[in-house]
Order: sequence, then C-alpha cells, then structure tokens
Amino acid sequence: MCGIVGYIGKEQAAPFLLDGMSKLEYRGYDSAGIAVMEGSKIRLEKCVGRLDALRAKIAGDMPVGTIGIGHTRWATHGRPCDRNSHPHADESGKFVVVHNGIIENYLVIKEELLAKGHVFLSETDTEVVSHLMAELWDGDFESTVKKILKVIKGSYSLVFMTEHEPGKIICTKKDNPLVIGLGEGENFIASDIPAIISRTRRTFIMSDGEIATVTADGVWVQDINGTPISKKVFVVNWNAEAAEKGGFEHFMLKEIYEQPKAIRDTMTGRVDKENETITFPELNWTSEGMAQINKIFIVACGTAYHAGIVGKYYLEQLARVPVEVDIASEFRYRSPLIDSNTLCIVISQSGETSDTLAALREAKKLGARTLGVTNVVGSAVAREADQVVYTYAGPEIAVASTKAYTTQILAMLMLAIYVGRLRNTLAEDRAKELVRGLGMVPEQVHELLENVDQIKVFARQYASCEDAFFLGRSLDYAVALEGALKLKEISYIHAEAYAAGELKHGTLALIVEGVPVIVLATQSDVYDKTVSNLQEVKAREAVVIAIGFVGDENLKKYADSVIYIPKTDKYIAPLMAVLPLQLLAYYAALTRGCDVDKPRNLAKSVTVE
Ligand code: AGP
Repeated sequence: MCGIVGYIGKEQAAPFLLDGMSKLEYRGYDSAGIAVMEGSKIRLEKCVGRLDALRAKIAGDMPVGTIGIGHTRWATHGRPCDRNSHPHADESGKFVVVHNGIIENYLVIKEELLAKGHVFLSETDTEVVSHLMAELWDGDFESTVKKILKVIKGSYSLVFMTEHEPGKIICTKKDNPLVIGLGEGENFIASDIPAIISRTRRTFIMSDGEIATVTADGVWVQDINGTPISKKVFVVNWNAEAAEKGGFEHFMLKEIYEQPKAIRDTMTGRVDKENETITFPELNWTSEGMAQINKIFIVACGTAYHAGIVGKYYLEQLARVPVEVDIASEFRYRSPLIDSNTLCIVISQSGETSDTLAALREAKKLGARTLGVTNVVGSAVAREADQVVYTYAGPEIAVASTKAYTTQILAMLMLAIYVGRLRNTLAEDRAKELVRGLGMVPEQVHELLENVDQIKVFARQYASCEDAFFLGRSLDYAVALEGALKLKEISYIHAEAYAAGELKHGTLALIVEGVPVIVLATQSDVYDKTVSNLQEVKAREAVVIAIGFVGDENLKKYADSVIYIPKTDKYIAPLMAVLPLQLLAYYAALTRGCDVDKPRNLAKSVTVE
C-alpha cells in the first residue's frame, strides 16, 4: 500500500516528511515525493525509485516551510515513473493531493475534466482529484473537499493542500487507514502509526467519512454534512517494530487479517454490483477473441501454483476451456504443445520469480498469448506478459503467502466468469448468482477471522505432531494443497495434501492412530464421497478435523472436530476454506517457536533458478 505523511507546525516540514516516509518503507513502494508550502507557493519534489533518490534530488536545496505532505507510492494505476509519483497537482500547482487506495470512477471523471480543458501529466487515478479540486474550488477549502467526496467512488486516504489556504491541511478516508498525530504547536498525519510514533503517541484514528482540518494549533473533524465529530484520543503503546505490524505479532497474521480489504480492493472496478457482471477494463477481451482459444496453460510456483489449480477448475467448469496447470520449473523444460490459440496465464505475487518468468518467455517464444496475474505493478511479469491482471493485495511481507493467494484465486474466479460469459458457456443467471456471492465475501471473511479461538486450540493441540495430512476432492483438494504448504513451510511439520479418493492407493498406509487429518468438505457434488474418505481415515484412528459450511451437522457425526466456514457458493468456498488452514499453520508455528515471518531456508521471492 502507499504511505502518506503530513506535517504542520513550528519546525521545518521536509525532515519529518522524509523520516516519516522512511518509517513506512516496509510497506513496499516504487516512488516517493513531497510537497511543501514555501512562502505562498507549494513546492513539489518527487521521483521514481527509493527515498534516497528523492533525498539526492533535493540535496542542498531542501524545500523550506513548516507545512507539507509526502507519499511513498505502491503503484496500482500507471507504471512506476517520475510523473506517476505523488503528490499530484492541477495545472496551476495551487491544488495538491496525495492518495492511498483506488479511485474506481477515475476514467469517467478524467474524460469530463479533459473535455473542460484540464491537462493531465500522469496515468494515475489520483491526479483526477487535484484537477477536481481546481474545478470545484468555491473559495472554501472544506466545502471543496466535500464536493470532491460526492463525486469520487472507490477506496481512499486523501490529504489535500492548497495555496489559497496555506495554513491548513485537510485529510479524509474511506476503506484505507489514516491517523493524525497530536503534538504541541504541531500536528502530524500518516497512513500508519510507525511514521509518527517517534514524535507523538497521542493520535486520532480516523474513521470512514470523517474530514479533518489540521492546523498547527488544532484538529477539527466533521462529516460530509458539516456535523462536528468529537474524536477520542488514542494513545499508542506499541513500540516501533510492533507499530509496523499494525499491532499484530507478525506480518503473516497482519496479512491474514488484511484479506477482507485485499479481496475488496481486487474486486474494485471488476465486480459490477449494479449489473451483477464481471468486467476487466484492462483486458477488453471479446467473444470472437475468446472463441479462438482452445487451450489454457496456467503456470506458476508454490502458492501461486496452487492458485492455478483452483483456476483450472474455474476455467474448465465455467468457461469450458481445457486447462493444464504446470509448475513453472517443469513447464520451461518439457517442450509444451503451444500455438497461437493457446493462452498462457502466469501467476506470481512478486512478478519476479525466475522459473515463472522463464516459463512466460518460453510460452511467448512458442507463440502463446500471455496473461500475467501479479501483485506488483511494473514487475517483470507485468512488463513481459502481453496483458496483466493485477491483484490489489498490497505489499506481502511475510514469506508465507496468504492474502496474495486469496486474491489470486479471486482473480481466477472473476476471469472464469468473464470468459464464461464471453464464450456463452456460463448462463447469465448463474453468473449473476456468483457475482452476488462475491459481493458478500469481504464481510464473510471478516466474520470468519473474528472467530478463531477453536482454530488456535487445534493448532496448539497438534503442534507437536510430526506429520499431518490434508484431504479433499475437486476444489477442496486444490485448497488442501495450499493448506499443506502453509503448515510445512512455517511450522516445519511434514504435511501432505491428497486427493481424498487417492489415499487408499498407498498413502493410507501412513494413517495411524493420532495422525491429524484435515478434511475439507465444501464441494456438494462430491460431498458423500469425501465423507466416506473421512470415515476411512477415522477407522484407522486418525484425528480428523473437518472444514465444512455452517449448518452442516452431518460432519460432526464422523469428524473429531469441525471448523465451520460461512455458507457460500461452491466456487467461492476456496476463498473461505483456506482461512482456517492459514491460521492453523500460523498458530502451530507459533506454538513450535518457529520464525513465522522468515521461515528457515526460504525467501520471499525466488529470483534464482
Ligand atoms: C508461498 O507461501 C511461498 N512463499 C512460495 O511458494 C511462493 O508462493 C512462490 O515462491 C511463488 O512466488 P511468486 O508468487 O512471487 O511467484
């Protein structure tokens, strides 16, 4: 996610802005910039690259002024480059803004402003806000900001400055974090507490819809109707390291709990709730184009590979296209049968995984059309694939991938619905039903993550085991693969996932008394078979934990324990079923004293073969 900082007070702003942004570097970024009120003019300095590049740019000529805002950019719309960096200004330079989030309707707004003669410099969604400030300016800063908020849609933390009212900064938020630090004769703004904790521990944690006017002497908060809001001071008692993790003990746990937002952001601009359809403006595929595709390869590594297996079920069942899923390190050497009617989808959180990149290049060389699904704007996969679909999970710091996986399978499901409609293999009513189900997912995921006590108990109970098995059929098997990887890569427990029907062909020999077996049972069309397999392992005295839908009392008859997930469509179930598995792995690793965020022998991005 982007990082935002702001300062207004008695000291020079630039040093705090640079220091504050350095405290947000852990969030990942590709460019940085600051805007400082120098006398009556706003001076804007920004560039692509690390903070050191910005420091070098202003070395010896530091902006002078006691009011300013700064931004580290995690690109979502528009590749990393100087002109796409924040802050953004209108043509006059009198209106400046920094933004974290996604302005969903920015294209429509941009077209209207272009028609009125506004000149845009960047490809970003954010720049429309600075031009809107100029267009809607009515002589009153707060009033203009309220008008802007009535026009834009999406998710945002926004911080505004204008030369017309140089003694104040205004900030507001919706679905993105924003805090105000309260000082003596000075006040601070940041997207996250680490940026201000060295200057003050007294804060206002902003809530959606609140608009704050921040001056050196005070902070006034109101809602869009002008109703004053009295904020309670929140005193931060975290240390700096804990603050980076948002108060969570590990980045992995923080990222597990960021999944409702990551899923919501990845759906933004693609799930059309009004028409109950899926669109991919960045793809603009057609029925004719899709009709030419007679084979899809999905190629990836690790967790991304597991997301690809989920994607296979989606694309074959909803879009009726043959799909082959390959581990990238195998694909690149096996001379796959590819031609111009083949679509090769590579999935990669980092967009830099060596084997996946090599597979992408091999597919292109063999004439395939290529699509990258990645979480990093401007990454190698994004640059080299013919087209790219971004997941908007935000930076994933923990080595064990969690929110990237859920946003990857979400992207695959949205793609399958999109392609299924284009190929007319998915009925409109069924597509609408799936879109309605997707609209409920962020809240259902949030609800599930608020009830994890039972999962903690199981994790502690079985943390001493040296073997664990994950069983499922169909999509449950695909998710079981990810559950096994999570457990083994951070707790070092040997874990294997098996297609439930395959167990009796050998591995059942390993099922003995006390071995924990997690059985996923969300797929109605193979439910009875899965329950039979559950009984098979139960008959060998295994300890069985089932994962099933709320209301499924039948599972209790056979499993030792059941972890329930919200009832949802079978295609949406993987988004929910993986969550208990992520948490089981996390708490088991914790119990075993493992280094959860940095497991032994592993790297976050495997950029070597
Ligand atoms: C998953 O928890 C691991 N960190 C690893 O398997 C990872 O998914 C794999 O290395 C692929 O990385 P990528 O998505 O960045 O290409």
